[in-house]
Amino acid sequence: MKSQSIYSSLLLCILTFTHFLTITAERCVDIPDPLNPSKQVIVDCPPTVNSDAYVKRQTTNFFEVTHNCTATAALCNNIKEAFNDAGKEISKVLKLKTIIKVNSTFTDLNNAYLLGAAGPARRIPLTSDDNIIRRYPQALVKQFSLSTHPEYNDYDITARFNAAQNWWFRTDNGTIGSDQYDFYAVILHELIHGLGFISSWSNLLETLVDQDTTGLTPFPDFGGDNDSQFEGFLENIFDKYVKFTRNGVVSTSTDYTSQLNESVPIGTSFDTVEEFVTQVKSSSKWEIAESALTSATTKDSLTFTPAEGTSHKEVIYLESSINPYDPYSSISHVSLRYESTPDFLMNYFLHDGETLEDLIQKDTLFYPY
Ligand SMILES: *[C@@H]1O[C@H](CO)[C@@H](O)[C@H](O)[C@H]1NC(C)=O
Ligand SMILES: *[C@@H]1O[C@H](CO)[C@@H](O)[C@H](O)[C@H]1NC(C)=O
Ligand SMILES: *[C@@H]1O[C@H](CO)[C@@H](O)[C@H](O)[C@H]1NC(C)=O
Ligand SMILES: *[C@@H]1O[C@H](CO)[C@@H](O)[C@H](O)[C@H]1NC(C)=O
Ligand SMILES: *[C@@H]1O[C@H](CO)[C@@H](O)[C@H](O)[C@H]1NC(C)=O
Ligand SMILES: [Zn+2]
Repeated sequence: MKSQSIYSSLLLCILTFTHFLTITAERCVDIPDPLNPSKQVIVDCPPTVNSDAYVKRQTTNFFEVTHNCTATAALCNNIKEAFNDAGKEISKVLKLKTIIKVNSTFTDLNNAYLLGAAGPARRIPLTSDDNIIRRYPQALVKQFSLSTHPEYNDYDITARFNAAQNWWFRTDNGTIGSDQYDFYAVILHELIHGLGFISSWSNLLETLVDQDTTGLTPFPDFGGDNDSQFEGFLENIFDKYVKFTRNGVVSTSTDYTSQLNESVPIGTSFDTVEEFVTQVKSSSKWEIAESALTSATTKDSLTFTPAEGTSHKEVIYLESSINPYDPYSSISHVSLRYESTPDFLMNYFLHDGETLEDLIQKDTLFYPY
């Protein structure tokens, strides 16, 4: 399907360039609730001999979904059908090797603006070919055919959908109402996040200590006794391809991260989060965090460059026009310049009253830049 052109090449480029991966640590990070990504649970993930069955290419749906649905049987059935359609669609465009397991919950999310959220259930640290340790979503690690891999979570993707929204399902065969959202389109969007379309950069540090946002960083990693030792900032593999533009100067996320890594000596122990945040912010390297925030809130200042050798050659603009910064919408979405192109799927909002097909047909094939 046209709307996934960017995403398939983008995920494939991440899948393709992984020949030199090495298992680094035996500590993985679980994120039980995609709506609360700051709640990270460090878990042991010792090397485990691969026992995944490889699935035949002709498999039509690589997604196996466990549903937790408290709505009526008819509604829950519509949800299952929509998941099935979305799983088939993604299975057509991505060369998946193993079954992807999804834990999906459909409940009232107590937020009138929220359609749903999803993310990797486990992030696994691996050393990339440039010797940098990054976190990889489990769904992606499963595609690498490693003979031994860090132990997996039972699920690859955790997804939550808001039962309080007015959903439209194609299986009802009706016309979409002006205030309805196409559930199928939202599943596609959320599954793409769960597969790895997700950055590590956020305002987590200052949020943790109730301070206003003045800078962004990747996730800080802690280890040692009581997880009190700072072990560096870790990018997601997505970030390897992210670039920040500031005053005409382009810097890679990796460059910014390695500078932030020098804000506090690796191995320093901290008694409290406050102490850590205070030290990072008093370092001269905090200006990197400030620059990252400026780029993330300035239109056209954040890009994703597909890896060399992938079919998609153009730079992809990420969402950087929302000011003030919004941890749920900024960075891990594509720019609204793709709103009326077939690549709108990863925009941070979806129009109501339009089905995925309507949105694709509206496509003007007009790339402004
Ligand atoms: C299903 O979701 C509800 C609401 O989030 C939760 O309380 C319940 O524990 C879940 N059940 C299972 C089996 O995961
Ligand atoms: C499934 O996800 C929900 C939250 O979205 C979480 O509460 C629950 O523990 C998860 N179930 C399993 C078995 O991981
Ligand atoms: C929608 O149409 C399909 C194909 O014609 C049919 O199988 C299905 O039962 C219809 N669904 C409803 C809810 O009417
Ligand atoms: C870790 O916790 C133990 C017991 O709670 C304490 O004795 C020890 O000093 C702590 N270590 C660090 C590095 O904080
Ligand atoms: C940041 O520091 C950690 C710990 O030394 C290291 O593993 C990681 O590769 C560093 N990241 C970058 C981008 O330099
Ligand atoms: Zn999203």
